Amino acid sequence: MAATEASETKTGGYTDIREYLAALDEHELLKRITAEVDLTHEVGAIAARVLERGGPALMFENIKGYPGMSLVVNLVGAPAQLGVAFGTDAEEPQIYAKIVQGMQNRIPSRIRPTGPVKEEIHRGDEVDLSAFPTPWWHEHDGGQYIATTAGLITRDPNTGNLNMGSYRCMIKDKNTVTWSGGTRTQRDPGGGDHILANEAKGLPTPVAIVLGMDPYLSLATGTPVPSDEEGQTEYEAAGAWRGAATSW
Ligand SMILES: Cc1cc2nc3c(=O)[nH]c(=O)nc-3n(C[C@H](O)[C@H](O)[C@H](O)COP(=O)(O)O)c2cc1C
Repeated sequence: MAATEASETKTGGYTDIREYLAALDEHELLKRITAEVDLTHEVGAIAARVLERGGPALMFENIKGYPGMSLVVNLVGAPAQLGVAFGTDAEEPQIYAKIVQGMQNRIPSRIRPTGPVKEEIHRGDEVDLSAFPTPWWHEHDGGQYIATTAGLITRDPNTGNLNMGSYRCMIKDKNTVTWSGGTRTQRDPGGGDHILANEAKGLPTPVAIVLGMDPYLSLATGTPVPSDEEGQTEYEAAGAWRGAATSW
């Protein structure tokens, strides 16, 4: 990916995944795989072995059956990557301090009337999840896991607060995915608790699943970020980590 002008001058503060990928590229923390790869276990095996070695992030550019599409993996987790995201040295104590500070000093989010996320809308039977190159990650998986570091967003029916958690989703059929877990504590309920609370009242739970978020939202989704007294959640912690409000 060509580095954008914005990312050349930036340290941290990325507002989307493209800017962050350009920054990883500049820091030589992103490797492109141009050889053809198979989604059945090959991508997963390569990703797991590279992850065990601590990186780099990988962009598969030649996926069997998906011409012109690419898939990125292993983007948020290694200290070097978090150093790029936070604009700090890749030292774990410094990064940890930034994460804690952000949770204590959240930045209110901005709600926008619309955004690029609304450019393509497919409903009901029009939805075809096979359009996305989704790996069979592990040998004994029952199917293709499409949401692995995604944001699963639900609203607490008791407090009205939003929650975003990373709970893996497997493709079940053309337009249905599974949900894994997300039950936490009474003080810090997760998305699974929201479902159970709604079910107790005979109500369904609307869920938004977001793939390909910026590094702060990706970090927030896999981190226990309890709502604070003002009902601020993962979005506002991510805003503090970014140094700029999350817009949604
Ligand atoms: C890559 C990744 C995958 C995860 N998958 C799951 C999962 O499938 N089910 C689950 O309950 N927690 C999973 N977790 C852990 C939760 O995301 C984590 O506990 C997080 O705090 C959940 O948000 P919550 O505290 O708002 O519930 C995963 C974490 C990561 C980083």
